Amino acid sequence: MGNDDRPYDVVLLGATGFTGELTAEYLAGHAPADTRWALAGRSPDRLAAVRDRLTAINPACKDLPLLRVDTGDAASVREMAESARVVATTVGPYVRYGEPVVAACARAGTDYVDLTGEPTFVDEMYVRHHAEAVRTGARIVHACGFDSIPHDLGTYFTVQHLPEGTALRVEGFLRAAGAASGGTLHSAVGIVGGLPRMVRAERERRRVEPRPAGRRVRLLRGPLPRARRAGWTLPMPTIDPQIVCRSAAALQRYGPDFSYGHYISLKRLPSAVGLAAGAVGMTAAAQVPPTRALLLKLIEPGDGPSAERRARNWFKVRFVGEGGGRRVVTEVSGGDPGYDETAKMLGESALCLAHDDLPPTAGQVTTATAMGDALIGRLQRAGISFRVLQQP
Ligand SMILES: NC(=O)c1ccc[n+]([C@@H]2O[C@H](COP(=O)([O-])OP(=O)(O)OC[C@H]3O[C@@H](n4cnc5c(N)ncnc54)[C@H](OP(=O)(O)O)[C@@H]3O)[C@@H](O)[C@H]2O)c1
Repeated sequence: MGNDDRPYDVVLLGATGFTGELTAEYLAGHAPADTRWALAGRSPDRLAAVRDRLTAINPACKDLPLLRVDTGDAASVREMAESARVVATTVGPYVRYGEPVVAACARAGTDYVDLTGEPTFVDEMYVRHHAEAVRTGARIVHACGFDSIPHDLGTYFTVQHLPEGTALRVEGFLRAAGAASGGTLHSAVGIVGGLPRMVRAERERRRVEPRPAGRRVRLLRGPLPRARRAGWTLPMPTIDPQIVCRSAAALQRYGPDFSYGHYISLKRLPSAVGLAAGAVGMTAAAQVPPTRALLLKLIEPGDGPSAERRARNWFKVRFVGEGGGRRVVTEVSGGDPGYDETAKMLGESALCLAHDDLPPTAGQVTTATAMGDALIGRLQRAGISFRVLQQP
């Protein structure tokens, strides 16, 4: 906890967007009454309309401060960063809009959380702003939504149930029902349409990032060996395994030789084939401007799944951890992964940085490294389940 003299504990930037408004609703319903928080966005009228809707949830939101912030206006971003202890931003695609906010928070020593799942963005921000954030004490925590909290904290939770000081192997298996918003679609198309930039960013990061001394951390790539499969599994090359491996590199508790594999589990072969074909089709369509434009028209920014649809969505991530002769199976589960639970995860991450007693960290850090046990406790109290299913 620092910067106590600043006017706001938490500023939520992007409060007028689909996920931003859900996060604002979560904070309106769950932030402790003494939390000094504010809404930020580029349109004062739209911000005022969001505040009116929040006031119906919690009358205390009537006087919530509204800050006009456009990521293209450096002065407005700087003022926001200097006025807050924590900035939570849902303004994406992050590769397009995100850097000014990270840069201003790193410079001002302001803690930062976002919802990015874009590896290019995270790697570029590490290369450009990590060192300054370390210097100022800012904790820059990307991927505080469904990407990648269940996977990162689920692995952290699993490791706590395995022996210390020995080689550990953890595999995560996702099952979920969900639907995408416009912001998510635009960000996903940006990821698969920008593969050369992603490779360059990863290479540049590898060049400057120190490796853990005397320890090994490995990402298991490719299909799961047949003997270890139950049902249909496909490797999931999202940002999640990268984040898990960064936590393992930062925390001694993951042991001298840690490996992680990340998969999606499907009950039926046609679903596995459909998912693989969909991913290949989207990647191909995102390479060429006319098909990319058609793809982006499928869902407009600001749109997303209805409350009725979200109420039917769910997720379960099962982890199988092995090491030192022990095997443990754990599970993280909850409701609508992409939006209702993501808003909860982002809101609780911001409150955790603002209010909890946490291990000292600075620079670009993961949720497990910066907030580990405290954030798991918060999410459990908020209805996201972390449990052990089997242990010897
Ligand atoms: N990791 C996860 O699990 C997860 C889950 C959900 C969402 N996300 C990510 O979160 C991001 C937002 O998604 P969404 O569906 O909520 O998007 P959205 O509805 O399009 O909202 C985007 C927000 O950004 C604001 N914005 C755009 N340009 C801006 C600028 N120059 N300055 C200030 N604000 C600006 C918009 O303001 P206006 O209202 O003024 O247009 C809006 O508030 C996406 O990158 C998405 O991938 C991640």
